[in-house]
Amino acid sequence: MEQTLCIIKPDAVKNSFVDEINKIIEDNNLLILKSKKIKISKDIAENFYSEHKERPFFSELVDFMTSDYSVVQILQGENAVANYRKLMGATNPNEASEGTLRAEFAESLSKNAVHGSDSLESAQREIDIMSKIFD
Ligand code: RTP
Ligand code: MG
Repeated sequence: MEQTLCIIKPDAVKNSFVDEINKIIEDNNLLILKSKKIKISKDIAENFYSEHKERPFFSELVDFMTSDYSVVQILQGENAVANYRKLMGATNPNEASEGTLRAEFAESLSKNAVHGSDSLESAQREIDIMSKIFD
C-alpha cells in the first residue's frame, strides 16, 4: 500500500471544488487518510518546491501556493503515487486528458488545481515536510 501527498491548490479551494475533487479521488480507490485546510507558509512552499528553485517560474509558484488556503492531504491506496498522478492529468490543463482533475478544474498552467507527488521518493519527502501541519 502506498501513500502520496496531494494538495488542492488555492484556485480550486477558492472555486469551491474541494468536495467534487475529493469525491473523484475516493471513487478512484484512494483513501483520504489525512486532510487539512491551511495557508502554506513561504518557508514550507520554498522547501516543498525546492527542485524548481532555479526555474524562472519559481517565485510565481511560491507566491501562488502561499496566496490563500490550500487543502493538504495524504492519500493511500494500491499504486497511489502513479494512480493519483494519472487522475490529475498533465501539468498544463490545455494538455490534460478529458476526465482528469486538471482538465476539469484547472484555470491555467500556474493555477492548475492540484499537486501530486511524482515518485515514491518524492511522496515520502513531501509527507515528511507536511507532517507537522497534521499534528
Ligand atoms: P505539481 O508539482 O504542482 O504537482 O505539478 P507537476 O509535477 O505536474 O509539475 P512541476 O514540473 O513539478 O511544476 C510545478 C508547478 O509549477 C508550475 N509551472 N509553471 N511557467 C511554467 O513554465 C511552469 N512550469 C511549471 C505549475 O503550476 C506546476 O504545477
Ligand atoms: Mg511536481
